[in-house]
Amino acid sequence: MEGMAKNHPTTASARPHDYLPAAGRDAFLPFYDRLTALLGAAELHRTLLAQADLADGQRVLEIGCGTGNLTLRAKRAHPAVELVGSDPDPLALAVAERKAAGLDGIRFERGYSQRLPYPDAGFDRVLSALMLHHLDDEAKTETAAEVRRVLRPGGSLHLVDFSGTGHGLHGHLAARMMKSGHFSEEPGGGSDDDTLRLLGAAGLDSALVATRRHRLLGQVRYYRAVRPT
Ligand SMILES: C[S@@+](CC[C@H](N)C(=O)[O-])C[C@H]1O[C@@H](n2cnc3c(N)ncnc32)[C@H](O)[C@@H]1O
Repeated sequence: MEGMAKNHPTTASARPHDYLPAAGRDAFLPFYDRLTALLGAAELHRTLLAQADLADGQRVLEIGCGTGNLTLRAKRAHPAVELVGSDPDPLALAVAERKAAGLDGIRFERGYSQRLPYPDAGFDRVLSALMLHHLDDEAKTETAAEVRRVLRPGGSLHLVDFSGTGHGLHGHLAARMMKSGHFSEEPGGGSDDDTLRLLGAAGLDSALVATRRHRLLGQVRYYRAVRPT
């Protein structure tokens, strides 16, 4: 895989977005990495990667990669894995690309999870961290179908998102910053069973792997969903 092939714009667009950015607003993006580090995102990413059980030679896609922290962590832990980070936000992608400078086998590309610009069955793993709650119900349904499409048979999605009624500090900040109603209160649209239902309806064999309470992030849930062979 080529190294950094794309250059993403680094200045905010005056136009309103059709996605909820990582920190709720473009202006807050410079603080996103520091805030999420304080909130304990590294531990959450480590747990998700342990669950994903990556192996040399695999192709792995992160949907909603933001500033690239999970994708980069995966690359550093597994240098022989080929990684693609995808996100609709060019500003976040530009940050991710800067951090990935000099690394091979990792790239960041603009894309919406509900219409992924990748061929069928091209990935062994799809990762998703703290992004499902950024989607409305229709986009969630489309995303689950897209994840199934791009996974090879036997490949798996590993997803973590907020659960329960509170989203912890990060979730409350995001909800306050985003007043458009785009922000969904629950990852699955109402309850954690909805996340399993969402993934199951897309034809994925899904399971809740763990529920954890992070001190500042609040309660999060980890899911695995396998594309049947
Ligand atoms: C809270 S951030 C999480 C970023 C990263 N996964 C992490 O763990 O640090 C959520 C990300 O979802 C992205 N996002 C919003 N709508 C999206 C969509 N339709 N498809 C893919 N990503 C989306 C946002 O741009 C943002 O970067």
